[in-house]
Order: sequence, then structure tokens, then C-alpha cells
Amino acid sequence: MNYFDEYTQSYDMTVPEIEYKYHHSYRVMDNMVVIAKSLNLPVKDIELAKCIGLLHDIGRFEQFTKYHTFKDNEMDHGDYGEKMLRENNALSHFNIDKEDYEVVYTAIRNHNKFRIEDNLSKRGLLFSKMIRDADKLDVLYALGNPNIKWIVKEDAGTISCRVKNAFFDNRQAKSNGEENKNEDLVNLFALAYDIYFNVSYDIIKNEQYYLKIYQRLHNQELFKPYFEHITKYIDERMK
Ligand SMILES: [Fe+2]
Repeated sequence: MNYFDEYTQSYDMTVPEIEYKYHHSYRVMDNMVVIAKSLNLPVKDIELAKCIGLLHDIGRFEQFTKYHTFKDNEMDHGDYGEKMLRENNALSHFNIDKEDYEVVYTAIRNHNKFRIEDNLSKRGLLFSKMIRDADKLDVLYALGNPNIKWIVKEDAGTISCRVKNAFFDNRQAKSNGEENKNEDLVNLFALAYDIYFNVSYDIIKNEQYYLKIYQRLHNQELFKPYFEHITKYIDERMK
């Protein structure tokens, strides 16, 4: 059994959010391979990409079990993941070079931040960008997947000017932890503003992730301008 499966075994997989994160981790690992190959990275770096993909959300299991939320205000799951991996020397269970351990920590620490840290090493920056894309691709996939029923949530909340203006300004509004469900959805629509690699845009467009998400919404009238704006933005970026 691999380290990830062994570690996650002690968490309650009958909790939908925990089970979701387990499968999300494997799907993100697969996305990392797709991105790494699109960049023609050597085999050694594909292994590194897989390791980062599988472990990027390792902090989520403790976070959800302790706090019953995926919001990072009380516990930053990227920082926690790095700490936990360091303390357990977990990377020794993976087929990666010791010199690359810091790259793994850097990418995991940076995968969930609003912006990537300054002054990273070239490899640290590359793999941070890769994991951010790989993660977002799976979030969009899952939101558009009718088999994952609980994940799209709407409410009667008003979308504030702060969130709305940022969106139409082609950027994500920084979370203040107080967004309503509709605002969360707008911020999810805004994920495409923070994509780095061409292959990721190709996947979003070809798999029609945004259309699939939009089709699942009850209040399509409210979200139509957001859907149309982000679809147009992606088309522009691909030109
Ligand atoms: Fe995460």
C-alpha cells in the first residue's frame, strides 16, 4: 500500500467530503501527469509531479476531521500538509530525489494560497504553477459532474459588488471567509483567471467544464452573465 493510502486509512471514508478528497487527490495526480507531459518534462519530473499531485491535499483530511470545513481561516491545509510531511519524513516513501523534497514542500504550501510566494526557485515555481492548474482542473470537473451531487450549492445570497466587480475585472476576489454560496460559485467561476498552462485551457474548453457547471445551476438567470464572461475570456486566452 502506498503512503497516501496508508495515511488516509485512518480517516472516515464514509464522510462524503473525506471520500471526495481521497478521489480528488488521485485525479489531481493524473492531471499533473497530463500537464507534465504537455511541457515535455523528463520522466524524473513526471514522478515528482505525481507525488505532488497525490499529496497536495494531505492536510485536508485532518482539517475536515477537526473543523468540519474546507475553509482555511482556522487551519491552512497547505501549510499543515507541508508540516506533517516534514515531521513524518513522508517523502522518503516516494521515488523522488532528496534534492527535490523542498520542491514538493514549496508546491504544496503554495497550492492553496491566493498568490504564489515571491522568490521561489525555478523548479519550486514551476511545480507550484502545475499543482495550482491541476487542482483547479479537478475542481471544475467535479463541479460539473452530476454524480458528485453535493458539491454545487446555491443560496438566496446577494453577490456583493466586491465579488462581482473583481469577476468582471477578470480576477478572483480574495476570500474574506464570509462569502455566501452564490459568491463562492462566482469565485469558482473565476478560477480560470488563475490558470498558467495552455493545456489547462484546452482541457477546460474541450471538456466544456463551465457549460456543465452552468447547466447544473438552478438560478441560471443570475449566473448567465458570469458564465458568458468566463467562456469568452477562455476563448480569448486561447487565441
Ligand atoms: Fe487543496
